Amino acid sequence: MSWIRITNTENIPLREGRSVRVGDRDIAIFNLGNRFLAVENRCPHNGGPLAEGIISGKTVVCPLHAWKVCLESGAVKKPQSDACVMTYPVETVGDIICIDIPANACAA
Ligand code: FES
Repeated sequence: MSWIRITNTENIPLREGRSVRVGDRDIAIFNLGNRFLAVENRCPHNGGPLAEGIISGKTVVCPLHAWKVCLESGAVKKPQSDACVMTYPVETVGDIICIDIPANACAA
């Protein structure tokens, strides 16, 4: 595991997402107001960019076909499915958002 400094908190507006590239990973970070959550920026349905979706509670609605993905667990909530996306631990250190990237970063 390795914590990577990503960006300043003010770069992700309230209730919006932004995508960042870390190595070979495309990660979507969301500002839920009281915390930030990060998931793989690739919808399990057909690869839609989740960072561009609309936040609804703790889920994001994919901008392509409106699948709902839980930002805490990575599980698809709607439609019913076993599909999920990878989640990443997030910590803010002062105003800096950090994400914990697994050591086997190229295996994803
Ligand atoms: S690609 Fe996300 S719902 Fe289709």
